[in-house]
Amino acid sequence: MSEKTMTKEEYLNKAKDLNKGAGAPKELEDTDFFTVAKERRSVRQYDPTVKIDENEIRELLEIAIQAPSSSNLQPWRFLVIQDQAAKEELLPIANNQQQVVDASAVIAVLGDKDAYKNAERIFGQLVEKGRMTEELKNTYVNSILEGYGSFPAERLSKIANIDGGLISMQLMLAAKAKGYDTVPMGGYDADKFVEAFNVPENFEPVMLIALGKGTQAGFEKTRLPLEDVLEWNKY
Ligand SMILES: Cc1cc2nc3c(=O)[nH]c(=O)nc-3n(C[C@H](O)[C@H](O)[C@H](O)COP(=O)(O)O)c2cc1C
Repeated sequence: MSEKTMTKEEYLNKAKDLNKGAGAPKELEDTDFFTVAKERRSVRQYDPTVKIDENEIRELLEIAIQAPSSSNLQPWRFLVIQDQAAKEELLPIANNQQQVVDASAVIAVLGDKDAYKNAERIFGQLVEKGRMTEELKNTYVNSILEGYGSFPAERLSKIANIDGGLISMQLMLAAKAKGYDTVPMGGYDADKFVEAFNVPENFEPVMLIALGKGTQAGFEKTRLPLEDVLEWNKY
């Protein structure tokens, strides 16, 4: 086997050249869930002239935040990077992946490791709605503050990443259903990102998601056969 490898930057930027001539991503007439889930692909070429307005981004995020989270603590936080200058600053931090500057926005999905401290506010909403007694709420809140408060940082980080992954998927599907395209990105320098974008200390980056109007479809889907990744009941 050849031992040829690529730099990280080459590896990340090669993908967009492999599908040349594929044409624009498919416009969906049917936004039934199954169609959207099948048709979403990672798109790496965007029309730089298309600007998705703030209200539409809010609409997508409103749907995304319906995702489930550990104890409903919703540790996700979003930094929407839309100014061209900010995207240019992000470009080298994200290994010069062109979608960073051509997409309408890059949404940084962050996880707040202190999210459990909002337990009072979150469970208080249930009391206001008459869905929970004050007494039960207090018990829940105390348990969360004690439990999550005693978790080591790695565990809080894992929770933030799991919940951040769920919301990211929901955001990408919502975007596809609305006629937009996305690509999730882990290929960036998280430390440099945190520093350059003044990310608060208790937040950690989960992934970056480029959002825009794609000009070239992502790869056709290939997946390992389900049978190769599935077992029932016990290993
Ligand atoms: C956590 C994560 C990080 C990723 N990072 C990058 C990235 O930095 N650059 C990129 O072009 N694609 C990135 N991808 C996209 C994957 O390459 C893509 O999801 C995979 O090839 C499957 O293709 P599909 O999304 O079109 O189904 C990432 C995907 C995930 C889930």
